Parts: sequence; structure tokens; C-alpha cells
Amino acid sequence: MFKNDGTIAVLTSGGDAPGMNAAIRAVVRTAYARGIEVLGVRRGYTGLINGDFIELGIQDVSSLTSQGGTYLYTARSPEFMSAEGQDRAASACKYRGVKAVIVIGGDGSFRGCIELSKRGLATIGIPATIDNDIACTNYTIGFDTAANTAIEAIDKLNDTMRSHERCSVVEVMGRNAGHLAVYVGIATGACSVIVPERPFDFDSDISERIRRGKLNGRNHFIVIVAEGTGITNEVAARIERETGIATRVTILGHVQRGGRPSARDRVTASRMGKHAVELLSNGKRNRLVGIINGTMHDFDIG
Ligand code: ADP
Ligand code: F6P
Repeated sequence: MFKNDGTIAVLTSGGDAPGMNAAIRAVVRTAYARGIEVLGVRRGYTGLINGDFIELGIQDVSSLTSQGGTYLYTARSPEFMSAEGQDRAASACKYRGVKAVIVIGGDGSFRGCIELSKRGLATIGIPATIDNDIACTNYTIGFDTAANTAIEAIDKLNDTMRSHERCSVVEVMGRNAGHLAVYVGIATGACSVIVPERPFDFDSDISERIRRGKLNGRNHFIVIVAEGTGITNEVAARIERETGIATRVTILGHVQRGGRPSARDRVTASRMGKHAVELLSNGKRNRLVGIINGTMHDFDIG
């Protein structure tokens, strides 16, 4: 399938993630090696609706592996949530001879794949989100770089907290998921990590730990709060009020989404991009690429 039989389109959708560019490059280079034409779609599903296709030759993706962000731009596309938007996107593909769409993004983006597949397009999803919250894969592109960015920032906060004998409450991204917060909390030796998946008790999970820490001679503390809890400022105010330690809030925010991708993200994205094109070449459609215990797998997207 595909050689001389239609074009593949590739797009990035939802929040950007470091490593998306390496996935784009791998898709283009793998397709090229098989004689398949690839078009890039700019600005995710918004671009698909508007027919915003660009040619992607092998030189266009040269040097992309080391760059953060996404060469194709990304978008959250409210227009694509309607059947009318989805019909327009499918028509734009038909007009350009596109038979398959590779979507690099998160779970919202993959729901978009299901809608495209209902309209006759073959779709493949490549998981890329710093949140690492896609069920059928151990790993999503961008998580490792985001974690390292957060760790570097928290190491710096640790220095100033130690000097002032303060507590730092750090908000880590992750929409509704606490994976990034937990990982970063372990890596930085945080006093507590508060995540949306697990109820917490202020007295035992924070206050008592700070009290015991002080008894053991510790003069500064890091508390990680996952964004999805929505209680970062509340936690900080309560720590200051109930433990008496001066407390400062740092919201790491979008800095976690930028930067040069780590080796792990570059390599994983390259493997996933190659696998996506191989699936299409082998006649598979509507699959989500995943990595389980280091091995590439694919799953039904719907
Ligand atoms: P992510 O892919 O990172 O989870 P979003 O949830 O914002 O990011 O989804 C990205 C885009 O995918 C949305 O802006 C929308 O265009 C499309 N999308 C999300 N959910 C659906 C859905 N249920 N049906 C169709 N398209 C969807
Ligand atoms: O899904 C990635 C993510 O960075 C989440 O961690 C965060 O909640 C969300 O995207 C932020 O989205 P936006 O960039 O639209 O503010």
C-alpha cells in the first residue's frame, strides 16, 4: 500500500512536546526511502481544515532532530470538534490526494483521528505530550526533556531556598495527570508531591514531614504540586500559616515544553516516526504507535 497509491500527510496537534520534530523527520525520511510522498500540514487540524499543506522533502527536515517545538506549528482547533470541520478536513485531504494522516499529539488529537478514519482516511497516531498520559504506551515523546527542564529549575530553587531557609512550592505541568510531578519529585528529593490521582492529607503528607525534617536539622523544603490539582497557592499559604516557614510559589509553566530534546526523546521519536510509516506500508490503518518495555507496538486507535 501507498507506493504510487496516495500521499501521507503529517501534522502536530495539541500542546507541543520536545521531540516532535524528530518524529516529523523520521516520517519524512522513512517514507522517502519507500518512494512515498509526504505533505506537512501546518497548525494541526486547523491547517487540515484550511488545506494548509506544504511539501516536505528530505532536505526540509534536515537538522530538525535537535530542535525543540514543532516545525509544522501546532494548534488546538475548536473548528475541528464539529462534524462540519471534520468533513472539511477530509475533503481537503481528498483534494490533495492524501490517503493517510499521521497525527503527532496527545489523546485529544487521537480522538480526531477516529473522526478522520470514519471519513475514509487511514490514520496513525504518534504519542507526543509532556504529560505521559496515554494509556497504551509506557512513554510519550517530550516527557524526558520536560522532566529534565523541571529538575534543573528545581535544583536552582533548592539553592535559594537553602540560603533563605524557606519552603518552595513548585507547580509542575500535566493537565489531569501527575506522572511528571511524581517523576520530578523523586528526582529532586522533594518533601512531598501532590497529584490529582490521589487524595492527600495536609497534616500527614506535608505538615508532619516538614516538622520531622526540621527536627532532623533540615532548614528548607521543596513541595511539588501537579498543575491538575489546582491548589498550588492554597497549599503554599497553608504551609506558611501552619508550619511558620516562609514559603514561595514557582509555577514552572510552559518553560517545561521548550528546549532541545533529550537523547531519549530524539531516539524514541525517531523510532515511532519510522514505525508509523512502516504500519501504513504494511497496509495497517487507524493504529496508535506505542512503546512497551522498550519495544514498538501498535494498537487500535478507536
Ligand atoms: P492533546 O492532543 O495534546 O490531548 P487537545 O486535547 O487539545 O490536545 O486536542 C488537540 C485537538 O484535537 C483539539 O484542539 C481538537 O481539534 C482535536 N480533538 C480533541 N478532542 C476531539 C474529539 N473528541 N473529536 C474530534 N477532535 C478532537
Ligand atoms: O498537554 C500538555 C500541557 O502542557 C499540559 O501539561 C497543560 O495542562 C496544557 O498542555 C497547557 O496547555 P496550553 O499550552 O494550551 O496552555
